[in-house]
Amino acid sequence: MKHRAVAEVSPSLALIKYWGKKNRKKNIPATSSLAFSLNVLKTITEVEVSERIDTVNLNGENQGPARYQIFFDNIRKQTQAGHHFCCTTSNNFPTGAGLASSASGFAALAIACCALAGREFPAAKLSAMARVGSASAARAVFGGVTVLKRGALHAEALEVFGIWKELRIIAVCTDAGPKAVSSREAMERSRLTSPYYRSWLADSEKLFREALRAWYREDLEALGELARESYLRMFATMFSARPPLIYWLPQSLEVIRLCAELRARGLPVWETMDAGPQVKILTDSAHAGDVRAAIGQLSGISALFEDKIGNGPVLRVE
Ligand code: PMV
Repeated sequence: MKHRAVAEVSPSLALIKYWGKKNRKKNIPATSSLAFSLNVLKTITEVEVSERIDTVNLNGENQGPARYQIFFDNIRKQTQAGHHFCCTTSNNFPTGAGLASSASGFAALAIACCALAGREFPAAKLSAMARVGSASAARAVFGGVTVLKRGALHAEALEVFGIWKELRIIAVCTDAGPKAVSSREAMERSRLTSPYYRSWLADSEKLFREALRAWYREDLEALGELARESYLRMFATMFSARPPLIYWLPQSLEVIRLCAELRARGLPVWETMDAGPQVKILTDSAHAGDVRAAIGQLSGISALFEDKIGNGPVLRVE
């Protein structure tokens, strides 16, 4: 029996979004997503054996069991571990604020719990276990570029091409506080109440296929445009839900408008957003400095992170 397992995992940032579940109980996505794992933003999770109950301490606060129980029960079933897990986890970026902390969080838990139980699984199996906690976590167990297809039980890693090395993400935080409505709840509300949800499902598969082709052509501009369409159409299902979901802040819109201005000046700049007010800007290494300088002129920005594509999780077992 191992004493402790520590996993370091970065969030998975989707360019083509997963939004909505095909099977709610099994947490299976209704749309295909295309994403990549980051490098600097990280979740660090330490897991030890617990005899009686599963516990999660996140950034110094003990978490309630409801969000985690199905996940831990499945890990125990897959690993045949006869014990519970005591988990201490922290993020070097704002948690639950639309920066994909649940993706890196559940991926790190899956990797560390399996290692502690002394089981080595193929990445696809770890991905399926992470998915039970959060579907975007299925992608975060891999480094580089990933896809999680509609209806799939696990994500897949894509071959990496030249442009990925130059790709930069500038994550602009307009508010570091946790969101009032979780992405889980928001996507379910969109599914149940937005009149546009059905069109979103059909349309997002088209965007996914086009985005894959753009990657194979190494066409950053086409990909950037598709990424914008994906997040804006995802938000259309939220704005049109009952009651409506509005994560955006005035500063989010300012950043979106600034990106449009920079594009009009010929800079390769495309933004995307998740279930929160933060804006993530896609650009290349040659223009990242200009983008940061332009964002520096705006007021009301609480933090800014520059990141690139990462190689994937790191695991230590003691
Ligand atoms: O995996 P969840 O429940 O945190 O949902 C993530 C949803 C988005 O971040 C909005 C999109 C995505 O594909 O990551």
